[in-house]
Amino acid sequence: MNEKEIKINFTEFSSLDEMCAEDRELVNASLKSIEGSYAPYSQFHVGAAVRLADGRIVTGANQENAAFPSGLCAERTAMFAANANNPGIPMTSIAISAAYKGAIVGTPASPCGSCRQVMAEYQKLAGRPISIILYGSEVIYKFDRVDDLLPFIFDNI
Ligand code: THU
Repeated sequence: MNEKEIKINFTEFSSLDEMCAEDRELVNASLKSIEGSYAPYSQFHVGAAVRLADGRIVTGANQENAAFPSGLCAERTAMFAANANNPGIPMTSIAISAAYKGAIVGTPASPCGSCRQVMAEYQKLAGRPISIILYGSEVIYKFDRVDDLLPFIFDNI
């Protein structure tokens, strides 16, 4: 028997000013994309912005539905749009921002398990790490690869 431990690395920023210009731009795009959120049921409005390897940004926002499971998170909305419209162009990073009842969250929203699995798929497709930035007005987290948010990624098939 062997007891093992997994270490998760991430960087904490206290403001956007501490981030590089590229990441700042991506976070600002995710904040702007909150405007496209349709979340009348939860009032939790999420915006996501994906950076492509050629530098372009594709955005998305959560879309809810009266039949709850029919809705989709901001992250998957953005990633599916990015790959559907730009097949073969790798994703390099994703920024996520959220507002609850009209106010930007202080502590970042963390992507759900399904979105992490989708990130993992596109990271594998890209053949290089996708970084994840979680924005909160009080603190910002940056993970350099999906593995840090989803250890033991399912990629057996
Ligand atoms: N949601 C996202 O869009 N991304 C997340 O990271 C967490 C949750 C959405 C789904 C639903 O529309 C609302 O937030 C409340 O769960």
